[in-house]
Amino acid sequence: MTYSSDEMMTVTAARTLRNGMTCFVGIGLPSEAANLARATHAPDLVLIYESGTIGAKPAALPLSIGDGILAETADAVVSVPEIFNYWLQPGRIDVGFLGAAQIDRYGNINTTVIGDDYRRPRVRLPGAGGAPEIAAACREVIVVLRQSRRTFVKRVDFITSVGFGDGPGTRQRLGLTGAGPRKVITDLGVLEADPQTDELVLAGIYPGISVLDVRERTGWDIRLSDDLAEIPPPSGAELAALRSLIASMPASVAADAGPGATTAGPSAEGAPTMKAERIQTAEDLRLPGYERPAGVHPPLNSPSYRSSLLRAPRQPLVPLPHWLTEVTGPLFGHDRVTAADADLTTRHAGEPIGERIIVTGRVLDSDGGAVSDTLIEIWQANAAGRYAHRVDDHPAPLDPNFDGGGRCVTDAQGRYRFVTIKPGAYPWRNHPNAWRPAHIHFSLFGRAFTQRLITQMYFPGDPLFDYDPIFNSIPDKQARTRLIARFDIDLTEPGWALGFRWDIVLRGLDATVFESGLGR
Ligand SMILES: [Fe+2]
Repeated sequence: MTYSSDEMMTVTAARTLRNGMTCFVGIGLPSEAANLARATHAPDLVLIYESGTIGAKPAALPLSIGDGILAETADAVVSVPEIFNYWLQPGRIDVGFLGAAQIDRYGNINTTVIGDDYRRPRVRLPGAGGAPEIAAACREVIVVLRQSRRTFVKRVDFITSVGFGDGPGTRQRLGLTGAGPRKVITDLGVLEADPQTDELVLAGIYPGISVLDVRERTGWDIRLSDDLAEIPPPSGAELAALRSLIASMPASVAADAGPGATTAGPSAEGAPTMKAERIQTAEDLRLPGYERPAGVHPPLNSPSYRSSLLRAPRQPLVPLPHWLTEVTGPLFGHDRVTAADADLTTRHAGEPIGERIIVTGRVLDSDGGAVSDTLIEIWQANAAGRYAHRVDDHPAPLDPNFDGGGRCVTDAQGRYRFVTIKPGAYPWRNHPNAWRPAHIHFSLFGRAFTQRLITQMYFPGDPLFDYDPIFNSIPDKQARTRLIARFDIDLTEPGWALGFRWDIVLRGLDATVFESGLGR
């Protein structure tokens, strides 16, 4: 059976993992190797990904450390500080995989810069990530990289992660608790650290590769282990399992980049059109963006809104593209949002003072389609116009029974509903006797924390509209009007509450005005 050198590397890496080990896994070859081991000889391998998933059992290869299939199948999901401070640093993880741009004869790793001058490198590399911690504290470390004179060098240009430093004693002197990179797996064979000298020596070689091949592709005079042996080729079962894992990847891409995985917010429109084909390059993972039309949303600096001049950037903004990593990260759990979170009037010992209102509406896309499962958060002043916030100290009473914060998740029809108290107008220091018209702040989350839209809802007939530079920073009059809720007699509940209806439209001609910086 024919196989590629990458497949040989992955299979060799998988074979080093023993059943029951805890393994710190990075995306790429390490993830392929760890999942291959789990699918073959090590079903109880415990996979720990840096994003906080412990005991992940993905059926398909995850696309990033934030891929939802990791959290969905994990035994536990913990915070990133816990992964590092509790699991990794005290030595609770058996084995960690590392990649490298350069490695030297003592297993020191460079992923920072190529070149002599840190400030003006020939190539600036991605940097350390969690690698120095892994190299320091995992009980053992396996380094995986292709072998060439450019990658296997006498001295690395920069030590990002310490292997064995200058040789025996270095790790002890530096207080590094793990055993270090005892094994390096390449596309030619396996190098192991000599127990006496800590120097990497050739311990295994792949079928069809000669010692001369290895010498030609190593930047130092590499020694051979006394036990140098040929490593058996991948078995049919190993190859079949590996290929099936890799074939599983595009399906997970398509599933995870579903409706709403766009830069513009929690919208189904413009969802990525990635097909269930093998992802060839990183560029294939770049998600489409949505350019908001000019003249509808407020500019970042609006002279009559004085503090916007101080806050607004003076340089043109640079849009950062979204990749799968941005939209597959962990999201606030919807199951933590309860019905009580949407009623701002019942969360304290007594009832708040003020006019009880129901505020409801739908989150819609440009074609009128419902946007479901969107987390909406609101915050507002109390009936006297005072925020329960430490910087609001203007002379109006706080209400011990009202904190002004609420949240809910839209239902299948895109509906949200809050019960609250009508906020009062409040003064601010923008111009002489400036008062904000009554309003409720709204925030909508999409599928990721990078997808957030923020806006304000106003109440009909407010005499302060004409005097409010924030409201009037929206250039288009009709767009301003779309921020005003509609009084709806059918929504009211007799003797108990008034009702206001306000739909939020994410894009298109009827789009709600948002405060997002780039107009995206
Ligand atoms: Fe406000």
